[in-house]
Amino acid sequence: MPILEAELLDKTPLRDTAQTFTITPWQPALGAVVKGLRYDGGAIPEETRASLKKALLDHGLLTFEPGTVTGQDFTEFLEAFGDVVLYSGPLTPAVSAKTQANVVDSTDKRVARNYIWHIDQAFRPNPPNYTALLGKIVPEFGGDTLFSNAVLAYERLDPLFAAYLETLTVVHYWDATGHMADRFLDKEEFARQRALNAPIETSIVRVHPETGRKQLFVNESYTTYIKGVSRTVSQSLLTILFEAIKSPEVQGRFHWTPGALVLWDNRTVQHRGIGDFASQSRVFHRVCIN
Ligand code: SIN
Repeated sequence: MPILEAELLDKTPLRDTAQTFTITPWQPALGAVVKGLRYDGGAIPEETRASLKKALLDHGLLTFEPGTVTGQDFTEFLEAFGDVVLYSGPLTPAVSAKTQANVVDSTDKRVARNYIWHIDQAFRPNPPNYTALLGKIVPEFGGDTLFSNAVLAYERLDPLFAAYLETLTVVHYWDATGHMADRFLDKEEFARQRALNAPIETSIVRVHPETGRKQLFVNESYTTYIKGVSRTVSQSLLTILFEAIKSPEVQGRFHWTPGALVLWDNRTVQHRGIGDFASQSRVFHRVCIN
């Protein structure tokens, strides 16, 4: 199967063509498409930065066409949205100095975690506001990424049920499903990560600090149980909420082309990859932003 590699496309400097780009809706449930933007390094003009930030908050996700950034200036471009945080562990590979981004490579078995619905780093007390992925090597067929609007998922609930959920506390843990870390970490590293990352508690419904909208804050990858209710109730409620996130009515599906960039707001959107690309290569660069 041929592999398509990201190339450096002709770049028109952003600075000289400010505001020539367009932002249009992507899918009914979420997202917007940014076209015509070419980043040429350094600080983005304030007017441009403000319209991108507003679109990101309004739509939860922005897609950028190939050629918007090069591989080299990907991380620098994202500094316009906040402080870049380069995580490593428990199942995230360390950042290399060369890329200044996490390399998400399908040949690393730990990426299997990405194929479960999640909010990035949501087992930590302060998960990052935003995440961005840059397609470096993408499969010709398959390997799309699904995004779900967790705000919309919350707003579609019966209001009485939603009000009940607001009274509940939920527990999250990096190895909530118990079937990943054991497989991919040796005994010593597993024990080290357990000591570093204790379970955390949050409310089920969280308020976005900038938009004021409420989102469902449970995810299939890291949410363990609901406190203060029986196992049956906890599991049943979580099943209902996980299904709400999986509803096609709240989703969009992104098909990757080499050099495409997607930036999303973790306080609005959940995501997962689709592991349907057999032995084709799939490599992204990823950064998180606070
Ligand atoms: C991720 O979870 O960061 C990557 C999603 C994907 O593999 O499409």
